[in-house]
Amino acid sequence: MGHRTAPPPISWLIKAALSRPKLISLAAGFTDNATLPVDFSRKLLNEILRSPKTGQPALQYGTTAGEEPLRHLTASHLQKLDGGHDRAHAPERTIITGGSQQFLYMTLEALCDEGDTVLVEDPTYFVFLGILQSHGIKARGVKLERDGVDVAHLKTILERLKKSGEIRRLKALYLVTYFQNPTGATTTLVKKRAVLKLLKKFERAAGHPIYLIEDAAYRELRFDHGADVPTALTLPGAKNRVIYAGTYSKPFATGVRVGFGILPEPVYTAVLRIKGNHDFGTANLLQHLLARALASGVYDRQVAKVRKNYARKAAVMKRALAEHFPANVEIWAAGGGLYFWARLPKNISAGVKSKIFQAALKNDVLYVPGELCYADDSSRRKPANEMRISFGSASEKNIREGIQRLGAVLRKFI
Ligand SMILES: Cc1ncc(COP(=O)(O)O)c(C=O)c1O
Repeated sequence: MGHRTAPPPISWLIKAALSRPKLISLAAGFTDNATLPVDFSRKLLNEILRSPKTGQPALQYGTTAGEEPLRHLTASHLQKLDGGHDRAHAPERTIITGGSQQFLYMTLEALCDEGDTVLVEDPTYFVFLGILQSHGIKARGVKLERDGVDVAHLKTILERLKKSGEIRRLKALYLVTYFQNPTGATTTLVKKRAVLKLLKKFERAAGHPIYLIEDAAYRELRFDHGADVPTALTLPGAKNRVIYAGTYSKPFATGVRVGFGILPEPVYTAVLRIKGNHDFGTANLLQHLLARALASGVYDRQVAKVRKNYARKAAVMKRALAEHFPANVEIWAAGGGLYFWARLPKNISAGVKSKIFQAALKNDVLYVPGELCYADDSSRRKPANEMRISFGSASEKNIREGIQRLGAVLRKFI
């Protein structure tokens, strides 16, 4: 595994950013520094550490599944987001993890052997692709539209896998359903329902369950006026097939790095055992901090603050893009999350080795080349004409300046 694992692109993106002090990074998936909940966290930590009665349990090892109060609060928080729905949001099926990244990693380990296949959106979250690559799991890309995967394309792929017999190694479909990383696309409930039905239909040929992994990392970062979309957990038939990955990193604090998962049996028990080997429990102090934040209403106040701030930053980016980018660049402007997606004309590369990427670096502005977000899938060519641009960590001034620099580079090449 050590030999097989490729260097993660995220490492050199961060290195590139750190090596040029004047560089404006529109690449990082970091959250906004200025709104991190320093005062809230100090107050809550003070409360926890005020007496041995509350301080000692927080400074002690906890259980592998996570602190019971936090599991309950997490399940009821999700129920609330899903309009009181309680079909599948049970604390007994909830596990608290070191970010949702750890949850995704363990879930893949529980489901897959080397040589298995997982379907992903085309494009998708590139660190997830790293987990697949490292484990020798094959990825197949399903075309992504602005309202979620192309269901007809998913059907075609499933039929092809059935015909070739590869369906017997297909374990899951992974979707980032809210303000997707990298495109900002949000999957409608209609599509979630269609996808779940389709996967179910092919289970006979597979000879085992095909799970829908729903990654909702950006769910609470909505800043447009649309209503929240319910999760696939609320759908009939979801209880035994939907694996939900959530996180408190993005809405509360990335440095606290607590995530969670909700899963059906027998995957729940398998992931719990794997977590027992990983770390036998997420840092307890952080779990106590989050439980207090959720129970006291501090969490909701923080989420409201963060949303307002991203709404402002996204608007700044939108205006700057309209002003500085060539008109033939297609922009997907999200109503939440941290990212905009830009599509250059088809014949123009913005890939890692492209003149555009090199010129952008030279002009001290960094973006994520879209090609990094496509799985190694030999059944199609990876598009290289796209870029992920983030308004998450840059200040409003730097967003304006960064987009101006990037726009100048693009005008030279388009
Ligand atoms: C789509 C998606 N899922 C999961 C994660 C992991 O986040 P965390 O481990 O902080 O919960 C990220 C982080 O950027 C992400 O973009």
